[in-house]
Amino acid sequence: MFFITGNKHKYEEAKIIVGNDIEMLSISYPEIQADTPEEVARYGIEYLKERIDGNFFIEDSGLFIEALNGFPGVYSSYVFRTIGNEGILKLMEGVEKRKAQFVSVVGYYDGDIHIFRGESKGVIAYEIKGSEGFGYDPIFIPEGDKRTFGEMKREEKNLFSHRGKAMKKLKEYLASRI
Ligand code: IMP
Repeated sequence: MFFITGNKHKYEEAKIIVGNDIEMLSISYPEIQADTPEEVARYGIEYLKERIDGNFFIEDSGLFIEALNGFPGVYSSYVFRTIGNEGILKLMEGVEKRKAQFVSVVGYYDGDIHIFRGESKGVIAYEIKGSEGFGYDPIFIPEGDKRTFGEMKREEKNLFSHRGKAMKKLKEYLASRI
């Protein structure tokens, strides 16, 4: 089974949960402008299913910050590339309400489309901390911990993370099919 992604970090996180028999395949597909990651994932699958032989899954994720009305949300990748963690911390300067959540949507195709969602609630840190992981990891502190994802090893992040939860649902679905 293929995990269609160009992001090695996502692949490594998925492998821990789904298992070693997933293969990373870096094929680009359109990521539409939509309000939810579910819509983005569904569209991506519709595009890819004509082009890939065999079962595959994709993942779309984003960081939704409450005080910013959900921004950067489905634009997380673009916003990270442009203003980055420094830019987000600047937008959050003087803001006390720091709740945020990561959302991950896994779309699996086996002839039908299956959508699995995982969420991770937490807060935006006041400073960049840690060098593990990727993206917004160094500014996100998950509920139940004092450290950012950037300060955690991959296995530990997976216990709390949006992607860990969505991948676990995929894994359970696959197990139920055997
Ligand atoms: P996409 O799913 O490829 O559209 O990208 C979502 C973007 O959200 C990534 O490029 C990261 O910037 C951010 N993101 C998604 N998941 C994580 C995560 O687990 N940690 C940190 N940033 C993430």
